[in-house]
Amino acid sequence: MKNLSLSIIILAAGKGTRMQSQTPKVLHKICGREMLYYSIKESLKLSDDVSIVVGFEAQKIESKMKEYFGNTITFLEQDLKNYPGTGGALKNYHPKYQKILVLNGDMPLIQAEELEKLLDTQSDIAMSVLESPNTYGYGRVIIKNGEVLEIIEEKDANAEILNLSTLNGGIYCFNKSILENYLPKLRNNNAQKEYYLTDIIFLAKKDSKKITPVYGQINNFKGINDKLDLAKAEEILANRIKEYWLKKGVRMRLIDTIYIEDSVTFEGECILENGVSIYGDSKIINSHIKAHSIIESSIIENSDIGPLAHLRPQSILRKTHIGNFVEVKKSTLNGVKAGHLSYIGDSEIDEGTNVGAGFITCNYDGKNKHSTKIGKNVFIGSDTQVVSPICIEDDCIIGAGSTVRQDIKKGELFLTKGKEIVKKGFFYEFFKKKSIE
Ligand code: UD1
Ligand code: MG
Repeated sequence: MKNLSLSIIILAAGKGTRMQSQTPKVLHKICGREMLYYSIKESLKLSDDVSIVVGFEAQKIESKMKEYFGNTITFLEQDLKNYPGTGGALKNYHPKYQKILVLNGDMPLIQAEELEKLLDTQSDIAMSVLESPNTYGYGRVIIKNGEVLEIIEEKDANAEILNLSTLNGGIYCFNKSILENYLPKLRNNNAQKEYYLTDIIFLAKKDSKKITPVYGQINNFKGINDKLDLAKAEEILANRIKEYWLKKGVRMRLIDTIYIEDSVTFEGECILENGVSIYGDSKIINSHIKAHSIIESSIIENSDIGPLAHLRPQSILRKTHIGNFVEVKKSTLNGVKAGHLSYIGDSEIDEGTNVGAGFITCNYDGKNKHSTKIGKNVFIGSDTQVVSPICIEDDCIIGAGSTVRQDIKKGELFLTKGKEIVKKGFFYEFFKKKSIE
């Protein structure tokens, strides 16, 4: 798919004031990844010259994106003080190629196939146009007799212009000469006192340049300007992710109630029941995740989980049964049964071991976390605690109600048994009541 004579620049220097957040807009996450990640990923499918314009919190954005893409992308810093606006963002840009695709960085739903449609129009400028009654936040495109005349920003528009439902999608393909000629001619005499990239359209049209509108779907071009846009975009992306995995054979019950992040993967036959959420780089292989369970960055293979279980990061479960109200964190369980009400943290538990209801690893001493190792075929009775660090070897029995503070050797029984007290009729004496036979 790579079109080797195309440069792409993504605008990501703005603060995103409408988000009402200290986090720069393009670092807000949808489905587990920062929104800028998605447009870079799609851009790299088309070009080997992808640049990002940064400004507000430039370092933060640069280092985060380098974690994903290394040195395959280039960063450019905008002089936000002297040249604010989407036009100012391109001021010191020196593209490698003659054809340049400009993308706003707040459009995480864009896909490479959609971008490709702007590349082959044989015009000086191709621009994305949307037809939608949901006009809020978009510049209006003035088109007469099929000719694009200009873009008027919402904040600069009068009532008549605001009524138009032909919107600027925010993606443009320019010939290099267009940017060279018109960027220096942009002025900031508008409502926002910014250098609008969109003014290039008016200037180029005056010189009879060929401008082609390329119509797109609003679901692919959705701009994120506030938290409402963010929530709506996340819903669209979440549906795309689920559709992808459904087509790959994952069974989902009541799909609208399920949430799967972009970095999650499935293999083999998996079943997800209603209300399941799976986060981070979780990998689910031939497993059944029952209703309302939460799985974070864990590997689950040939296992059944839940209902109402919580697997926290770095849990690795194989051939394991986890039941309701069981929390597992940073633990490796192989062939284990933990059916009810437990906390298993920083542990390694081996094949054939049965964890009774109400088992707790006391892995934190107030200062440090400690680990627990439990061998094969251990039978752990209900309502027991192990105080870590601790090791229980193979073939042990831990009696119900025990608190284990010492290592247990292979084959041993361990049992805490306090002195039992039975007082006949104590209830009636204590509450000064009579027993009714
Ligand atoms: C922009 C368009 C609007 C279009 C809409 C589509 C302009 C003037 N307006 O408006 O016509 O309908 O996108 O979503 O272009 N940015 C910079 N430097 C800046 C300012 C912004 O890099 O100085 C970046 C932002 O980080 C953002 C992108 O450019 O990723 C768009 O900026 P934003 O303020 O969201 O523009 P809109 O008001 O959405
Ligand atoms: Mg925007």
